[in-house]
Amino acid sequence: MTKDININLSKKLTSSLSENYANIVDIISSYSKEFGAKVYIIGGAIRDLLLEKPIYDIDFVVEGNAIEFCHLLEARGIAKIVQTTEDFGTAKIEFNNIKLRIDLASTRTEEYPKPAHLPVVKKIGCSLKEDILRRDFSVNSLAMSLSPNNFGELIDYTNGLEDIENKKLRVLHEKSFIDDPTRIIRGLRFIHKLGFELEPKTKLLQQKYLNDFNNQDICYERIKQVTNLAFSLNSSELYDDFIREKIYKLLTTTPRQTDGKAIHTAIQKYSNLVSKENIWLIYLANLITSTDAEKLNLSSKETEIISYLDELLANLPYLKNNFEIYKFFKPIPYETIVAYLGNTKDASAEKYLEKLKDTKPLLNGNDLKKLGFTQGTIIGEALNIILEQKINGKISSMNDEILLAKDILRKKNTNN
Ligand code: CTP
Repeated sequence: MTKDININLSKKLTSSLSENYANIVDIISSYSKEFGAKVYIIGGAIRDLLLEKPIYDIDFVVEGNAIEFCHLLEARGIAKIVQTTEDFGTAKIEFNNIKLRIDLASTRTEEYPKPAHLPVVKKIGCSLKEDILRRDFSVNSLAMSLSPNNFGELIDYTNGLEDIENKKLRVLHEKSFIDDPTRIIRGLRFIHKLGFELEPKTKLLQQKYLNDFNNQDICYERIKQVTNLAFSLNSSELYDDFIREKIYKLLTTTPRQTDGKAIHTAIQKYSNLVSKENIWLIYLANLITSTDAEKLNLSSKETEIISYLDELLANLPYLKNNFEIYKFFKPIPYETIVAYLGNTKDASAEKYLEKLKDTKPLLNGNDLKKLGFTQGTIIGEALNIILEQKINGKISSMNDEILLAKDILRKKNTNN
């Protein structure tokens, strides 16, 4: 039911769009009238507009056929079609002199031939309302008209505005999580990114879905995408919720459990060693083992981060001096060591990251050649001995290294 709210967002919109988006919205609006089409902004952009958050990405939807609309724009020389996807009724276009490509979608209904897998398009060109009712949460189901006669009018078929005001996440129908369990992880992200909470019935539906969940066949490619986005928020509470609310069941039957705060603290402490894109893996590694990770089709580098943590947690050998610590941790990715420190307080791992990891001899191979070393293998061995002595605190200065190198060379020559 649309409430007679009569809210107009045009002022809010003009003040929050980048110049490129503002120009695009103007062009689409005026040509929609000329072509007799109804075009809307829909989804996350309207949610963020109402929350006064920055808008990075706008989804446009044409009530009817977006590809036809784009062909008309192209025929007028206003824009160029970059790509069309007939099966979904979507088009990517680029306007003259505007360096931003946008996607226009046709209104569509979808169905899930197999629960928890990708939906297939059922009908392209349905009513706006039908398109809205296939979506995840009411707060993501608001639209705004771009037609000049009611430009900026908010269209709210699902009470999304009220839910935004009350910061509630509400699914639109009882089967929402059964159709698409990735919505559970999306919801968790909105909870921690935007300060929302699940409204009671949605929470019950989620709990029921997760309680009943028993390793059934789901689309792990999508689970991976949403988990990446969620853990990339770098939120300790989000990790704790993953465990407390049993959301982990979508990824594993036996989660590793640690304290989200400890993971977050380790990430902050060693932030210079961890690339931003890998933060999610530090949380993921503290949730699943490499056996669980196989389903997710991770890259080999991503898998490595998780499988090294399996090894560290299963068996950390006794490391009797600094050089042993150095050798042991050297091949292990920093992300794994940080994940490990988020799990276990370990002085040797801390020592490696803070003191040992960059230690190098002052001498290099060329210096050794000048001292009379000839063979490559012996140079390598000598540098290793120098490094060992240095890391173990037996030598420190350049002079110490030179004396040690000469000693190594003398012994080699006597042995030969
Ligand atoms: N959507 C959905 N079910 C999903 C994913 C998306 O119904 N599993 C719908 C929602 O209406 C959503 C829109 O598709 O608003 C666009 O999705 P997306 O771009 O992934 O997210 P946004 O809502 O725009 O949010 P954000 O940009 O913060 O990811």
